[in-house]
Amino acid sequence: MHKEKYDFSLKTKKKVWLEVGFGNGLHLVELAKRNSDKLIVGSEVYENGVATTCFSLFQNKIENARVFHGDARILLQSFEFEAVDRLYILFPDPWTKKRHKSRRLLSLANIEIFSKILKSKGAICIATDVEEYYLEIENAFSNLYQFERLHVSPKEKNLSFFLDIKTKYERKAINIGLLPSYLVYKKV
Ligand SMILES: C[S@@+](CC[C@H](N)C(=O)[O-])C[C@H]1O[C@@H](n2cnc3c(N)ncnc32)[C@H](O)[C@@H]1O
Repeated sequence: MHKEKYDFSLKTKKKVWLEVGFGNGLHLVELAKRNSDKLIVGSEVYENGVATTCFSLFQNKIENARVFHGDARILLQSFEFEAVDRLYILFPDPWTKKRHKSRRLLSLANIEIFSKILKSKGAICIATDVEEYYLEIENAFSNLYQFERLHVSPKEKNLSFFLDIKTKYERKAINIGLLPSYLVYKKV
């Protein structure tokens, strides 16, 4: 019932912020609570995460959020060119094994797609606790003329873009002594 209420529909005059791989939805719900003037759209393949998130949106009487249960790459196809103002990808699965690296959400091919749906001056906000993934992301964006790097020190969380709350995976990483990187790229 809650899933139907928050299922995907993109008709809006509001600015659209998209979170890919929202997990248990903690960040997405908070984003929607604090930004009632935006439409917060989320995509997640993990069914329990989608259910928890829809229930939390319902409990908090949140109307400005939509949830897509499935692979973000399917959702991305239904966005028009430059339809999204901000994109969050927080602690994406790192696929650390060499043979799985092509599954990374922040592959060059996917970044091209993100770039197409993102408005000019829109931002991609990324967090990762995997140093090698961080370096790969930095390298990919530095080679793309359409993006400008906004973060100065990646270990500092810029609260103009990131919330002052911790996601489940962020907490996990910090608890075992990792220092996540927080990256922001603006589409020029
Ligand atoms: C490591 S978890 C991080 C969850 C959450 N962002 C956090 O920080 O706690 C990565 C999440 O991305 C989701 N995910 C991975 N690939 C996805 C895709 N192509 N589309 C949507 N969600 C995806 C996974 O199901 C998982 O819940």
